[in-house]
Amino acid sequence: MINIGVLGSTGSVGRQTLEIARKYKDKIKVKLLGASKLSDNLINQIKEFNPDYVYVELGESQIIGSTKIIAGEENLDFLKDVDLDLFIIAIAGVKGIKPTYILLESGKKIATANKEAIICLGELEKENYKNLIPIDSEHSAIFQIIDRRPLDDVRRIVLTASGGPFLNLPIEDFEKVTIQQALNHPRWSMGKKISVDSATLLNKGFEVIEAHYLFGLPYEKIDVVVHPESIIHGMVEYIDGSVISNLSYPDMKIPISYAIFYPERKQLNNNFLDFTKIKNLTFLPPDNEKFPLLNFAIECGKIGGMYPTVLTVADEVAVNLFLQGKIKFLDIYGIIKEVVENFKVYNVKNVQQLLDFIKEVEDFTVSVAKRYGNT
Ligand SMILES: NC(=O)c1ccc[n+]([C@@H]2O[C@H](COP(=O)([O-])OP(=O)(O)OC[C@H]3O[C@@H](n4cnc5c(N)ncnc54)[C@H](OP(=O)(O)O)[C@@H]3O)[C@@H](O)[C@H]2O)c1
Repeated sequence: MINIGVLGSTGSVGRQTLEIARKYKDKIKVKLLGASKLSDNLINQIKEFNPDYVYVELGESQIIGSTKIIAGEENLDFLKDVDLDLFIIAIAGVKGIKPTYILLESGKKIATANKEAIICLGELEKENYKNLIPIDSEHSAIFQIIDRRPLDDVRRIVLTASGGPFLNLPIEDFEKVTIQQALNHPRWSMGKKISVDSATLLNKGFEVIEAHYLFGLPYEKIDVVVHPESIIHGMVEYIDGSVISNLSYPDMKIPISYAIFYPERKQLNNNFLDFTKIKNLTFLPPDNEKFPLLNFAIECGKIGGMYPTVLTVADEVAVNLFLQGKIKFLDIYGIIKEVVENFKVYNVKNVQQLLDFIKEVEDFTVSVAKRYGNT
């Protein structure tokens, strides 16, 4: 039996994790669930999986049946005493930082989709990333290719981008983009925040920074190519010119299942590639005029220090304002750029300083955003 915990169990990655647990209930026992609140969805999951622990940020600590509900970020330290084979982190955004930090510091085995935490904790925790299993599909692809072998003979890795919903939208139409259009990803069905990040292509910029920290590769060895079919998820080019790639139809259950059963593989939904039906595999350079945030993110990554954190936080605030209808799509670009260029960046030495720093960037972003849209 593999005993797992799923933080962010009610979201897109979390629900797909539980689908795998349901399919393999003879092999996986879900002992911990977590979400922001005790929603109907979470209550149904508790009834179905009967976990020992449930974490919620909001609400009251209590006991329901044999399940201990632990509420409040200030009580997250309880994770140190929970003994599981694997913790899956599927929380969206910077709220994933604290649990990720606690789990890493207490030496727990983690598989994570939460790129924001990987980025923001990068400078403090990168040494502890060695045992972490990535769930983000591109990073899982690279992990599936290189496993834990040394990277001396790797010339570069290539992360693929679908190009998002606006790949073919003329630049003059970006002014009128609606929330619904931005959420309408052509290949993946995901949570709202990452869907908007995919529409701006900043998601790919985050993934470059994520790859830098996870695999310890310099930015010069991480490339991005637009690949609208989303069949190839990642490629590793070696110094002899050989390229090994990872292919499948887009399905997050593949990287999630790989993370749970690593190094074994399990059958999922029989959605096997039919090569005779794939007419084209297209590759394009990213359009930096339409999607300037991709290169902007890579520049932030290269400067390093706390710049990737400022970028991550500014984006999270701006995307939330866009999703609330308070700013326009293109305002996301302007706000992020202004925050990164004007926030007085300083270094942090521990996680509490990091969380305080994030609060300052959030406040600064809100003040910058006041000059945009109708915030
Ligand atoms: N979706 C994908 O296909 C995909 C692919 C690659 C990477 N990722 C990454 O995976 C992460 C999750 O993405 P998602 O699309 O699954 O997001 P999502 O659908 O928005 O789900 C977010 C989850 O996080 C929980 N959550 C939010 N705030 C929380 C808090 N303060 N404390 C505890 N839990 C909290 C939510 O709980 P409530 O339901 O209670 O709000 C929900 O369970 C993101 O970092 C994303 O970039 C996602």
